[in-house]
Amino acid sequence: MNKMVIINGSPKTVGSTSSIFIDEIKRLLDITPIVYQSTQLILDVENSKVMSNILEADVLLFVFPLYVDCIPVSLIKILTTIEQEAMKANEKFPIVYAISNCGFIEAKDNHLALDIVKNFATSVGMLWGYGIGIGGGGFVASQSKNMRKSGPVSNVYAALVELASAMKNQHMKNQHVFVTPKIPRFMYKFGGNLGWYLMGRKYGTVRSLKTRPHAYKK
Ligand SMILES: Cc1cc2nc3c(=O)[nH]c(=O)nc-3n(C[C@H](O)[C@H](O)[C@H](O)COP(=O)(O)O)c2cc1C
Repeated sequence: MNKMVIINGSPKTVGSTSSIFIDEIKRLLDITPIVYQSTQLILDVENSKVMSNILEADVLLFVFPLYVDCIPVSLIKILTTIEQEAMKANEKFPIVYAISNCGFIEAKDNHLALDIVKNFATSVGMLWGYGIGIGGGGFVASQSKNMRKSGPVSNVYAALVELASAMKNQHMKNQHVFVTPKIPRFMYKFGGNLGWYLMGRKYGTVRSLKTRPHAYKK
């Protein structure tokens, strides 16, 4: 692999869980990839230099959060533009990989989002490497400093190591890989609820935590 592009699909410009995964992947590679932030890229995606960087890469990796069981809209716009440009180009395309992370602990919730990226790749004529679905994104981020040590997110790091090696060798898998941090579901839920409560206290909005402004009223 000589050239790699990573697209960070998180709308957060700083402090995203996606950026933590990208930093770990970069440490594991022998080359320096070009990294685009999707919110910036949508302003620039029709720029021919950017598009040729993407289409001429050997490997294209999308890293993004799960939004409503789908992918963030900025990433949909990018996939659509790449698809249109790829239809015009008649060249060798990159092999595509993806990392989707979600807030719920169930890593398998990412399967539709990974299918979307897989369908994009195959419909454009790109090879599909494989995708990783990661559950408990917020918890993984909170443990990122310990990711490389043995602990509750060491399995997430192992999946990233495997992915980096697969990308170097352009290996493909038939199935997505799903990784859930090693924390009991009830503890994860308790920690999540506590986090919302503490945030509510900080901003004086504890009483509004259970409001349902869009709930159906008879
Ligand atoms: C608008 C929105 C929709 C979301 N939808 C889901 C969802 O359907 N399922 C889920 O498990 N998490 C969902 N989340 C949580 C994010 O996937 C989760 O916080 C993720 O770790 C964020 O990753 P990032 O920091 O890389 O952006 C949603 C978050 C937002 C802001």
